Amino acid sequence: MLDFTFHNQTDIRFGRGHIDNELYDVLHQYGTNVLLVYGGHSLKQTGLYDRVLGLLKDLNVTELPGIEPNPKISSIREGQKLAKDHQIDVILAVGGGSVIDAAKVIASAAYYKGDPWDLVISPAKRQDLAQLPVVDILTLAATGSEMNFGSVISDPTIPQKKGTQGPNSPAVSFLDPTLTYTVPTRQTAAGASDIFSHLCEQYFDTAENNDVSKSMIEGLMRTVIKWAPIAVKEPENYDARANLMWAATMALNGIVGLGTVNHWTVHPLEHELSAQYDITHGIGLAILTPRWMKFALNEESKPLFARFARAVWDQYGYDDMELAENSIRRTHDWLKSLNSEMTLPDVGITDDSKFADMAKAAVAGGSLDTNAYVPVTEQDAIQIYRDS
Ligand code: NZQ
Ligand code: ZN
Repeated sequence: MLDFTFHNQTDIRFGRGHIDNELYDVLHQYGTNVLLVYGGHSLKQTGLYDRVLGLLKDLNVTELPGIEPNPKISSIREGQKLAKDHQIDVILAVGGGSVIDAAKVIASAAYYKGDPWDLVISPAKRQDLAQLPVVDILTLAATGSEMNFGSVISDPTIPQKKGTQGPNSPAVSFLDPTLTYTVPTRQTAAGASDIFSHLCEQYFDTAENNDVSKSMIEGLMRTVIKWAPIAVKEPENYDARANLMWAATMALNGIVGLGTVNHWTVHPLEHELSAQYDITHGIGLAILTPRWMKFALNEESKPLFARFARAVWDQYGYDDMELAENSIRRTHDWLKSLNSEMTLPDVGITDDSKFADMAKAAVAGGSLDTNAYVPVTEQDAIQIYRDS
């Protein structure tokens, strides 16, 4: 286990009872000027928009609607201007990972004189800036953005999709599982794939004897495997939505990755897919994960894949390679059972003309040839895209 420090100040308010009773006071402690950031139509369709506005009472609310999935830098620029023009005291983000990611970067951009894309490509600049407090109401279980420091922002004109870390995670996150009852099936599947991928990225790691990390991840994986199919079939099953929501937060609030060594692999590969084709992040991960696993299974990684088979997929036997291969099949079949698209042609990507550029960017951006669990060269990355 490597040395680490851990600090996370996000105040979590989990369950049905918090928003109506606490939202106003939580926001008011920071001031009276609120920037309300949200996405497309879902907020108004579900009635949450009216409910939230009703709770804000005498606060001065400036709105930034229209944050798209794979949030775009143009929205951040708009938010930066609104935050400055209206002397915003606190940002209220209501939505999924895209909305919260955007809110966190706007929170830094409010204190920045230049163009906010600088803060995306040079995250170190954000560490020297103040950051507005971000309060969020999460409506989709997936990214963990509600309790981490990260954001992923796209500039479709280049096209690039880049991760950036701020100095602060959200100040307060309201996690009410009932707000995810309306998440469509496909998005529920994508969210579950994302959670599972976050866990895989931190599990397949060469740090020795990091059993705290491994055991927590195995428990969270089993949780997602159990409850995601139930949420897909019964969207209003509270236990399924609650377990997915808290698993999503726990999978990427930093705790389970402590003491690990390697950089992530599948996410850099996926970010190139969403940068080029604007596909849903979790669907891209569902497609790539089993193909990456096949690539990554070798004599050295076999014992960990066999552990994954035993501890997560309840596979028994003495032949580690057989177990490992089973675990990959089980992973593929579980993802497919959520009705996720499982190939690149399924999401309309039918030619390989961009694969070389994407592979180059993913390997360089993620240091995949030097720091991945199983090193990935550009040729390997092209092959993983082709196999997908
Ligand atoms: O835009 P609206 O109309 O609100 O609809 C959204 C959106 O179309 C809809 N939705 C959200 N909550 C809903 C709902 N529909 C009905 N009922 C609800 N309660 O779902 C669609 C997708 O929303 P989005 O926020 O894009 O999904 P997600 O939470 O999966 O976020 C994906 C983004 O997060 C980034 C991804 O790359 C992608 O850009 N990531 C952020 C991370 C982080 N901050 O740590 C890590 C992740 O690995 C990931 O890269
Ligand atoms: Zn992800």
